[in-house]
Amino acid sequence: MNPISIYKPSPSLLDKQIILVTGAGDGIGRHAAKTYASLGATVLLMGRTVGKLEMVYDEIINRNHPEPAILPIDLSKLGMENLTELSNQIFVNYGRLDSLVHNAAVLGTRVPVEYSDTVEWESVMQINFNGAVLLTRTLLPLLRKSSSASLVFTSSSVGKKPRAYWGAYCVSKYAIEGFALLLADELKSTSKVRVNVVNPGATRTKMRATAYPNEDPLTVKTPEDLMKLYVYLVDPNNLDHGLTFNG
Ligand SMILES: NC(=O)c1ccc[n+]([C@@H]2O[C@H](COP(=O)([O-])OP(=O)(O)OC[C@H]3O[C@@H](n4cnc5c(N)ncnc54)[C@H](OP(=O)(O)O)[C@@H]3O)[C@@H](O)[C@H]2O)c1
Repeated sequence: MNPISIYKPSPSLLDKQIILVTGAGDGIGRHAAKTYASLGATVLLMGRTVGKLEMVYDEIINRNHPEPAILPIDLSKLGMENLTELSNQIFVNYGRLDSLVHNAAVLGTRVPVEYSDTVEWESVMQINFNGAVLLTRTLLPLLRKSSSASLVFTSSSVGKKPRAYWGAYCVSKYAIEGFALLLADELKSTSKVRVNVVNPGATRTKMRATAYPNEDPLTVKTPEDLMKLYVYLVDPNNLDHGLTFNG
């Protein structure tokens, strides 16, 4: 039996947990951030569009959930300076990080590889892959300070089986899966940090609508439908490690 189908998180499951979600201003990340806050977590809302993050912040505050923090960071512009500042900021305010949910990504243009734009290719790889690697490297010491740390990477079905014309997005998802599994192997004997991968599957968001403009959005599941799985992945009692979960 699928453990997620019988999983019932308690309303205070994530009390005092510090959870960073990238791409928290829209789509799946926005719902994950609000769901974590509703279960007691202090959520660090990372994203590139401050207005969207502020809306999520307001929704969380209006429901009397723990005050989140806004981290306006564009993954395409990550450098040593803002990474160091980020890790210092989290350390000073919270002393540790319990979960890091890598969710942000861009689709890029679907085009044959030989006609792909090299600048866009690099940008997609930077946002979807290199950015997640840099953030992980920087924040691992803070995750190690947690008694139940969880690292979650977001893949896609095109990170398991290539699809023609999906270019850098497809390659970035293969890369993120490889990195997650490498890290899981590295960390299994040297830390308590758990590493898992989620493939949300077709989900009703802007990215999905851009990828499949002819699809009726009502025929695909909503981000809310994924939330039990997203909570399960950061549940401090969960011991799963090195696994891929499909939404
Ligand atoms: N939806 C699906 O059917 C589906 C299927 C398989 C996998 N996925 C994966 O699930 C994850 C979430 O996708 P989604 O459908 O929720 O996409 P979405 O609605 O397009 O949301 C993507 C989020 O990533 C943020 N983001 C993009 N570029 C960024 C950057 N440079 N720096 C910081 N944040 C950035 C966006 O911020 P802005 O809003 O400010 O641009 C947005 O909050 C992605 O990793 C995606 O590959 C989705």
